[in-house]
Amino acid sequence: MTNEFSSDWLALREPYDAAARSKRLAAAFLEALPARPCILDLGAGRGANARFLDGLGSGDICWRLVDRDPILLKEASQMRAQTDQQIVDFAPDPALLDLSQADAVSASALFDLVSVDWFERFLRTVGGVPLLFALTADGEFRWRPSDSADVMIMARFEADMRRDKGFGPAMGADAPRLMAALLSEEGYLIRPAQSSWRLGAGDSAILTILVDLIADATRDLDGRPEVEGWRARRHHSIAMNDLSLEVGHIDLLALLD
Ligand SMILES: C[S@@+](CC[C@H](N)C(=O)[O-])C[C@H]1O[C@@H](n2cnc3c(N)ncnc32)[C@H](O)[C@@H]1O
Repeated sequence: MTNEFSSDWLALREPYDAAARSKRLAAAFLEALPARPCILDLGAGRGANARFLDGLGSGDICWRLVDRDPILLKEASQMRAQTDQQIVDFAPDPALLDLSQADAVSASALFDLVSVDWFERFLRTVGGVPLLFALTADGEFRWRPSDSADVMIMARFEADMRRDKGFGPAMGADAPRLMAALLSEEGYLIRPAQSSWRLGAGDSAILTILVDLIADATRDLDGRPEVEGWRARRHHSIAMNDLSLEVGHIDLLALLD
């Protein structure tokens, strides 16, 4: 079954992420690093973030990919040789991360899962290195056409985004705003960029899975028939090539002055 960390889902979203994210911020991040930098990628999954940054072609990067899922990390190493890997569940404590060799830290599609408390403790461990955090969800979902159940479903989904994913109550849709505030308090200069997906006709595979992920996350609460009705109407719109959806994400580059 597809879930937000399954290999199939991460593979499906990778080209949408690459098209949406800010090349300008990514280039500025790489320019801030020494020659042959060592970058620690948090929650690396199948290595999409490393592939994106390698693809900008600025030179040889030594990667340390960190994730708790050994199967995803194995896929990452099959697609890119010579990656150092650390299999660790870092939710209990950011101090579990080995940042000793890191010239920089990156992550993609991760921080809406973590809590304010975890992020504050993480920032105290990173020691001022450049940070690039791409594709943090900001909770914006713009459905065209709208549906009478959108407001109810998306309110529930936003509540689900704030559920504890092991790091304490997740920042969810507030993550970009809270991260920027906490990074500023630590003295970082922040550069944000919008990295939203714009999906429509021709994107039926990712639209179908998004509708199902949202419906599955909200149906256990009260009102299952309304959720299933919404799911069926959204599937019908996708089949008619009549659904478009914008999914909001923010990239943040943070550099110390
Ligand atoms: C939404 S995926 C993003 C993966 C990858 N960065 C990408 O952009 O394709 C989030 C990743 O964080 C990892 N993750 C979630 N919680 C974790 C934890 N407590 N410790 C380590 N990794 C975790 C998952 O295994 C997954 O690979």
